[in-house]
Amino acid sequence: MTEKISRFFEKSRKERLDIVERITGLTKEERQTLESLGGIGFEQADKMVENAIGTFSFPLGIATNFVINKKEYLVPMVIEEPSVIAAASKAAKIARLCGGFSMNNDESYSIGQIQIVETDVESATKKVMETSAQILELANSKSNTLSKMGKGAKEISCKKLETPSGKMLIVELLIDVGDAMGANVTNTMCEGVAPLIEQITGGRAVLKILSNYSTRRMVRGTATFDKNEVGGEKIVDNIILAYEFAASDPYRAVTHNKGIMNGIIAVANATGQDTRAIEAAAHAYAARNGKYTSLTKWSKDKDGNLVGFIELPMSVGTVGGIINVHPMAKICAKILGVSSASELACVIGAMGLAQNFSAIRALASEGIQKGHMRLHARNLAAAAGAAPDHIDSIVEQMIKEGNISINRAKELLNSD
Ligand code: MEV
Repeated sequence: MTEKISRFFEKSRKERLDIVERITGLTKEERQTLESLGGIGFEQADKMVENAIGTFSFPLGIATNFVINKKEYLVPMVIEEPSVIAAASKAAKIARLCGGFSMNNDESYSIGQIQIVETDVESATKKVMETSAQILELANSKSNTLSKMGKGAKEISCKKLETPSGKMLIVELLIDVGDAMGANVTNTMCEGVAPLIEQITGGRAVLKILSNYSTRRMVRGTATFDKNEVGGEKIVDNIILAYEFAASDPYRAVTHNKGIMNGIIAVANATGQDTRAIEAAAHAYAARNGKYTSLTKWSKDKDGNLVGFIELPMSVGTVGGIINVHPMAKICAKILGVSSASELACVIGAMGLAQNFSAIRALASEGIQKGHMRLHARNLAAAAGAAPDHIDSIVEQMIKEGNISINRAKELLNSD
């Protein structure tokens, strides 16, 4: 994708779809899936969860203007909250003037934990480390796919925990899961090696499970926002003050990070990720130093432009799980055009930074309600039945009157 799209939000659904189809090479069937209800049928839902009675759909939108590591992206977002997609697109539009987002990430190592109790932790640790080659070999025998790709279990480490029930040994498996999120393979390997670890240590294995605190799958990156586009030096300074507030106060940091997650989870939803895992890891990371703080940092460069930085764990996959099953997740992956989990992590990280920029820029200048109310008014005008070319005049009138309601939207519609 190499073209800049302007005023995507003003286009009709058909025009938007035409653009997405042209740029991303969607097939006729994929376009039809997008145009129809787009989700999964009941049969599929019934296979995915227990006691299913139906399905439940959310809006899917496209964030435009994203340039990440010099590549252009159309970013699909699934979210019910107004303003988020517009905010992301706006942030990306400003960031691209200074080259866009520069992101990088770690290797895709997932962490599996085996909890060993009723053992002498010191000597058990020594024995586990001496036998680590054998444990790794056994772990790798549980996944032909990863082994064939040169991936799989790579390292073993041990840690001692002091608990109210006494000391316990936690054996951790580091597994290169490649482009998968890797929860299943990690759990399989943990369960697979637990009996051997019990035998080696003489202890008892209780839990054998992936850790969602994926600190060996970090994503990080930065973007520069031109001070004039941000709104001038005063707003740049206010944004830095807003960041310092979040950095120092957990009550503000939670809301600050919630704004970041608005972007992150919307892309994660669209691409079929385990959003709970991403959330849980992000918040643990935000509290890594014993006090909950901001996942981003904001400062000024020597020219007074605003510079943002984000870092958080990002465990995502482009193969396996729901991505292989959900027709919309597949189409969204195609629209996004990422070729690896690591690239997807970079896009999601950039989206978090973009979202945070727009939120604190709005808060540090005019506040967020103005934009929100405009979008709310648009939704109400549409819900009242206004045709696309009529929405704007109804919105303007409701804003002018300070009366933004479905009843007023209906009255205005009927009075024309
Ligand atoms: C609303 O969903 C998100 C914000 O509250 C984030 C923030 O306060 O930074 C606007």
